[in-house]
Amino acid sequence: MKVRKAVIPAAGLGTRLLPATKAVPKEMLPILDKPAIQYIVEEAVEAGIEEILIITNRGKDAIENHFDISYELEKHLEDKNNQKLLELIKPINKMAKIYFIRQQSPNGLGHAVGIAKEFIKNEPFAVLLGDDLFYHEKENCLKSLINVYEKEKKSVFALMKVPLEEVNKYGIISGKRVEDNLYSIKSLIEKPKPMEAPTNLAVMGRYIFTPKIFEMIEETQPGKGGEIQLTDAMNKLLAFQGMYGFIFEGKRYDTGNLLGYLKTIVEYGLRREDISGMFLEYLKEKI
Ligand code: G1P
Repeated sequence: MKVRKAVIPAAGLGTRLLPATKAVPKEMLPILDKPAIQYIVEEAVEAGIEEILIITNRGKDAIENHFDISYELEKHLEDKNNQKLLELIKPINKMAKIYFIRQQSPNGLGHAVGIAKEFIKNEPFAVLLGDDLFYHEKENCLKSLINVYEKEKKSVFALMKVPLEEVNKYGIISGKRVEDNLYSIKSLIEKPKPMEAPTNLAVMGRYIFTPKIFEMIEETQPGKGGEIQLTDAMNKLLAFQGMYGFIFEGKRYDTGNLLGYLKTIVEYGLRREDISGMFLEYLKEKI
């Protein structure tokens, strides 16, 4: 079965970027002139996803507004015959079928994904985490995972090597390398201390799951931080089905903390043709 649906959990409180995220969802913070979540939706659509469920909460109306039609704005730009800006905003609500549902309490990532059960039904599906942006020169990260899924028919997620002192920020795997960039997963542990980590191979925010993950989430008790962890449900899934980790070779940006957010903006700015020359000159002068 084709992977055609995706879930984007976007119900986190964004506490690492307060006070900016007090009234503005962290997913709506701009990376240059686009909100972070638009890059994620574009990655999903480029990988062939047709329907997306965004899991939000009470404070996240701006995300719904962003993917809705903006009648007044379009009318205003049409009256002014401003085709350039119309081309920027008009396609946003047509990229894919986008649906929203709210997570009523912050019970963790596993719980948020579990809410998508009725939407996904009995299909394999993608999960894209809003804090992680991936830049590629070869192939879109989600597309690479979909290719692995189509070949192996097993759940698969993105992996990256991280410095040992950073393993406590991620889900960490133990597994066996079966191809150049493919690991067969043995077990996972959420945010271990460096001394407890079996490897320095960390789970990044892109996953393809078989629908069996929902049963596992339902059986998962609160874990690290008192939250229902997706990593714990994945560990349970391993008892029934194999799972793969795919080493993504592009770059990953963590926009969910201040330094990561700043680095993302600088690097995206340096890649943006219309400003990169002037921006580089500016940076050189400053340094
Ligand atoms: C989540 C997952 C973790 C994963 C990380 C990737 O953690 O729980 O396993 O490694 O995303 O960004 P969070 O960043 O939400 O704390």
